[in-house]
Amino acid sequence: MHVTATELGLPALRGTAKRDPGRPDDSRLIDGFGRVATDLRISLTDRCNLRCTYCMPAEGLDWMPREEQLTDAELVRLVTIAVRDLGVHELRFTGGEPLLRKGLEEVIAASAALEPRPDISLTTNGIGLARRAEALAAAGVNRLNVSMDTLRPERFASITRRDRLSDVLAGLAAARAAGLEPVKINSVLLRGVNDDEATDLLAFAVEHGYELRFIEQMPLDAQHGWQRAEMITAGEIMEKLATRFTLTPDGEERGGAPAERYLVDGGPSRVGVIASVTRPFCGACDRTRLTADGQVRSCLFARTETDLRALVRGGASDAEIADVWRYAMWGKLAGHGIDDPGFLQPDRPMSAIGG
Ligand code: 5AD
Ligand code: SF4
Repeated sequence: MHVTATELGLPALRGTAKRDPGRPDDSRLIDGFGRVATDLRISLTDRCNLRCTYCMPAEGLDWMPREEQLTDAELVRLVTIAVRDLGVHELRFTGGEPLLRKGLEEVIAASAALEPRPDISLTTNGIGLARRAEALAAAGVNRLNVSMDTLRPERFASITRRDRLSDVLAGLAAARAAGLEPVKINSVLLRGVNDDEATDLLAFAVEHGYELRFIEQMPLDAQHGWQRAEMITAGEIMEKLATRFTLTPDGEERGGAPAERYLVDGGPSRVGVIASVTRPFCGACDRTRLTADGQVRSCLFARTETDLRALVRGGASDAEIADVWRYAMWGKLAGHGIDDPGFLQPDRPMSAIGG
């Protein structure tokens, strides 16, 4: 007979104690504001082989000990519960740098074998992607985002503290060749560092058939150095792009997608701007997040987490885990509150939550 977490006296009880009897009986990941989370973002590791200045210090961070990380089997079990029992139909694997996770292709293949088959994407910094793109596509990755903030090698080396721009460019080309389209590029503009490159980045993306997305810098750096005035806003990005391109809203339904998309010079190329700070899209958010150590987060900026790893390791049933996940999401707050006077950055940096 199956031993339940309750019988073992495990932290499932914490989840149980928080249960709100007002939650409607719905198997999906609904919250109190009418949203439904169907997009699961999974951080596979907090480690990274770059050291972007706006993300982490030069010496890196205290990486998560191995034994705290979910094993592949534990991770696949949670993904299975999400897809089969909770209505999740989109998976995005992130990091840190997800290509550093051993067993990545196996985890993806197991995820791709689930019914109904989820849409699978990956956010990577592109280092090592040239060698892996084919295998990733074969394992079941549908689409890919590559982070690249500059086209200038010296600048790349100073932003990421590693001289690897050519690896990223090779990775982008390999992803396209492997059919992982549309290949998206994520760029963060930093004042006085690369904010003069907005149009060059877009010209490059248009020329090579990549879809560029600019992301406003968010207060998620490990050093807690983010300052609102330093951030390049979506408005500024649009002004810069307008000096060289004609942008028209692409008119497509945005749904839960954070990017505002524009046709470039009448199309078919597009560019996206993700105004997470100045035009938050929390009201349409459809995300739930899982950290590499098995904690559910209802938001990038959440200040609480729900421990699924303890349940998995304590012998909880799939049904119990699903239920704890449902209540974790039911408590999702309305928005990130970056503009609230009492805003506090989450304890985990972006590199340990996943983009
Ligand atoms: N704000 C916005 N984007 C960030 N990224 C990393 N840190 C931040 C931040 N503080 C981006 C990376 C990558 C993606 C995972 O998130 O550049 O493209
Ligand atoms: Fe690594 Fe991404 Fe952080 Fe850069 S932003 S150091 S690529 S996790």
